Amino acid sequence: MGYPVPERPPGRHPGWPARLPPLRVRAGVVALRPVRLRDGAEWSAIRIRDEAYLSPWEPTLPGTWLERNSSIEWPGRWLQLRAAARRGLALPFAVTVDGRFAGHVMVGNVVREPLLSAYVGYWVDSRVSGGGVITAAVASVVDHCFGPVGLHRLEATVRPENGASLRVLEKLGFRQEGLFRRYLEVDGAWRDHLCFALTREELPPKGLVGRLVAEGRASRA
Ligand SMILES: CC(C)(COP(=O)(O)OP(=O)(O)OC[C@H]1O[C@@H](n2cnc3c(N)ncnc32)[C@H](O)[C@@H]1OP(=O)(O)O)[C@@H](O)C(=O)NCCC(=O)NCCS
Repeated sequence: MGYPVPERPPGRHPGWPARLPPLRVRAGVVALRPVRLRDGAEWSAIRIRDEAYLSPWEPTLPGTWLERNSSIEWPGRWLQLRAAARRGLALPFAVTVDGRFAGHVMVGNVVREPLLSAYVGYWVDSRVSGGGVITAAVASVVDHCFGPVGLHRLEATVRPENGASLRVLEKLGFRQEGLFRRYLEVDGAWRDHLCFALTREELPPKGLVGRLVAEGRASRA
């Protein structure tokens, strides 16, 4: 494995905050950094424009889509994300494409010893979808989580109808573990989700990024 794993993590939340090295894919140069307070305007503009594309896959929450995704919602949400990250419970990454905010890769439910486990979730601006952005972003985040963060297992849950997300996990080598019945309330109903996972032992020798680069799906920018 290409990433040293500390025997005992040095801090409460090793590997955070972090900026991950940029990768070039079809859509542009993808980079990851912690979410910022000033991401609010871009976050809101993308999410309001992309309601039809995002809402079939996102948890049902109180309020209308417009209310939940207006820019005045962002400061409160950002504070919650930052607090969770400071407590070692999450790694809330902003995804940028050519330097502009374009989406989110969220590592949540971080449980440290003995499980060393978390889930990973993601979305991206429809204007760059299909351009390799989230595959590259999640590859970087997985390598980071199994490296500096010191986790052992990452899980992702996906609706069986979500072809694009299933394809992302397939390209990254996530292994299907099972079907969670009525797992999450999404788009107004309790939906089945397929569960995928990856453990540190399954990383290829140069990590997921190394494999994407070797396959020609990304290059180091
Ligand atoms: C799922 C999502 C994050 C993927 O991000 P992305 O940057 O477009 O992903 P990538 O370009 O890296 O890979 C997408 C792959 O799915 C393929 N794809 C797209 N739509 C598809 C579909 N309906 N069925 C099967 N494959 C599909 C693309 O062709 C691409 O595969 P390829 O590289 O072999 O051509 C993005 O579509 C999104 O934000 N969707 C809405 C929110 C969402 O579903 N979040 C995930 C919830 S689990």
